[in-house]
Amino acid sequence: MFTYLKCGEDSYLCRTLIEFMPNELFEQLDFVENPLFESIIEDLINQQYSVVDHFFSDKEVSLLRHSLLAKYDSDRFKKSAIGSRTQEEIDKTIRGDFIFWIDENRQGEAEQAFFTKINEFVQYLNTTCFTGILEKEFHYAVYPVGTFYKRHLDTFQNDDRRKLSLVCYLNEENWPKENGGELTIYTNVGEIDILPLPGRVVIFESQFLEHEVKRVQASKRLSITGWLKTR
Ligand code: OGA
Ligand code: MN
Repeated sequence: MFTYLKCGEDSYLCRTLIEFMPNELFEQLDFVENPLFESIIEDLINQQYSVVDHFFSDKEVSLLRHSLLAKYDSDRFKKSAIGSRTQEEIDKTIRGDFIFWIDENRQGEAEQAFFTKINEFVQYLNTTCFTGILEKEFHYAVYPVGTFYKRHLDTFQNDDRRKLSLVCYLNEENWPKENGGELTIYTNVGEIDILPLPGRVVIFESQFLEHEVKRVQASKRLSITGWLKTR
């Protein structure tokens, strides 16, 4: 059972209700405790972010990387924009990545496996944390050498439906520090640099956690990035 019961101060997640829930009701919750998901939830409530190195299997990560590269090599990526998608604006001085939006209903084997896991996680969150996540959006991203994404929040001024941001890095080999491209997050206890290691997943509170992608110094930085949203 849950080992802690609390709401994060600056966290979208909340488990307080469970404390007051009668046992009969609690037992009706349709879920099997998942230690990986529990550790992510605990991190999110306590520190607004979680870094997990084995959310997806090596095979799943490698399939996603190949699918990304096939699409990138056939020129299906577009220069990223800033602001909500109805209010696009291209500005290389803020962000320089190239992206490909993934349609959950029209995709291949790699993306299918990806969404199966994501949906499992969403269902777990909705069941145990009352998150009400009903929508999601994901894109592949490529940051060529010299590109970056300046410090920002993932929510837009006129749209706060994004609740959790999720990035999975798809880089080929171990990513040395000299390659740059760190994800820097700005927490209450200071800046934390996270290297985009292959298969590494970072999940954070879209509304509360400012972050940036440092300049890529060498190689191409590959990822799949997205948001879990309320309606
Ligand atoms: C973004 C973003 C972080 C990363 O796409 O909004 O902040 O590490 N990405 O790629
Ligand atoms: Mn971001």
